[in-house]
Amino acid sequence: MFAVLRAPSQVLFGAGMAEAAGPVAATHGRRVLLITDPVIASTPGFGTVEVSLRAAGLDVAVSTDAEVDVPSAAVDAAVALGRETQPDAIVAVGGGSVIDLAKVTALLLAHGGAPSDYYAVNSVPGPVLPLIALPTTAGTGSEATPVAVITDPASDMKIGVASSHLIPRHAICDPRLTLGAPPVVTAHSGIDALSHAIEGYMAAEADDPDAELVLGRPQVGKNAISDSLALTAAGHIAANLERAVQDGDDLEARTGMLYGSLLAGIAFGNSGVSTAHALQFAVGAATHTSHGLGTGLLLPYVMEFNRPARPDDLAELARVMRSPGSAVDHVHALGQRIGLPGSLADIGIERQELRGMAEASFKFKRLVDNNPRPLDEDALEAILDAAWHGDPARLSRERSDDRGGAEGMSALTSQSVRS
Ligand SMILES: [Fe+2]
Repeated sequence: MFAVLRAPSQVLFGAGMAEAAGPVAATHGRRVLLITDPVIASTPGFGTVEVSLRAAGLDVAVSTDAEVDVPSAAVDAAVALGRETQPDAIVAVGGGSVIDLAKVTALLLAHGGAPSDYYAVNSVPGPVLPLIALPTTAGTGSEATPVAVITDPASDMKIGVASSHLIPRHAICDPRLTLGAPPVVTAHSGIDALSHAIEGYMAAEADDPDAELVLGRPQVGKNAISDSLALTAAGHIAANLERAVQDGDDLEARTGMLYGSLLAGIAFGNSGVSTAHALQFAVGAATHTSHGLGTGLLLPYVMEFNRPARPDDLAELARVMRSPGSAVDHVHALGQRIGLPGSLADIGIERQELRGMAEASFKFKRLVDNNPRPLDEDALEAILDAAWHGDPARLSRERSDDRGGAEGMSALTSQSVRS
């Protein structure tokens, strides 16, 4: 058996838990930098956290500079405020972009330099400033992961900084903080959390895991602990996502979603995600659609592609999601019920763009290499083509055509399938 767990040293989960922010932050010193975005700053949940920090006697500097996709201007502003106020800890209240900004700020305040100094995996030299993350969406799982996704100012592309040192020290998960998330944010971030659970569970397995592997990589592929968390996460998310989208005040559904996204975050924080995320980078760059819309739309197609390699995993996912049929159909139908577009064509992509997207996605080697079935550009194009048509079964039909000797789809037949 092979298992890895790198996670926050403290997780506090439950309604009302935001009030713990002050006492937890006070264990690290007298001054905190509180990072959020302008929308969250005006919410009652943010107020609860700020009151808790001040009631604990802390000096609080507030940065509302966070923006979607963490542009370099946001990093510069938060780091400048941090240099001026010299915090002992950073508190982040927000969605993935806020927590990722806080991670990079904690890194640069501790070790200096620019984000680009840390793009290489595991190049963070040591612990960063203590970070206390309070998510307001369910979610990216960033409160528990070693990854911060930011926008590279040189290329204007999104890029991930990955190191175990970036895992927040404390994750305080209060479902009341997520009550205000609008339906479309709830849908997209929620199906992204399901993508984390399923891609984490379906991740490639190391042939011969050893100390070098676990020390050399923040994310190590499929393992026993990530499997256990990913399955529990998939069950909670599948049971609660539609409810949370339909009624944002349903605290029980919000609780199930936040718990699912936290566990999915811990799972993929150790195993890694894969092809739905690699393809989303290209789809998102071309269409300016949200991360979760892209990963959620693509997920059933990636699952269908991987069916020959992992039929038992798909059966287990169907079981935990209480699906009477296939896991692929279940995830596809769930996406449609929460309002995801029916196909890549529906978000304005032309069929002739697919090849370029496949080639661009193939460059995300860390993600592509984590797929359970080997991939090349042709295979990525086939997945995108099925998603362009809005029909996951197209991949399996083409597979059976291949067996009958039909031309095309050579990538799907020429690859060895690792089971
Ligand atoms: Fe994601």
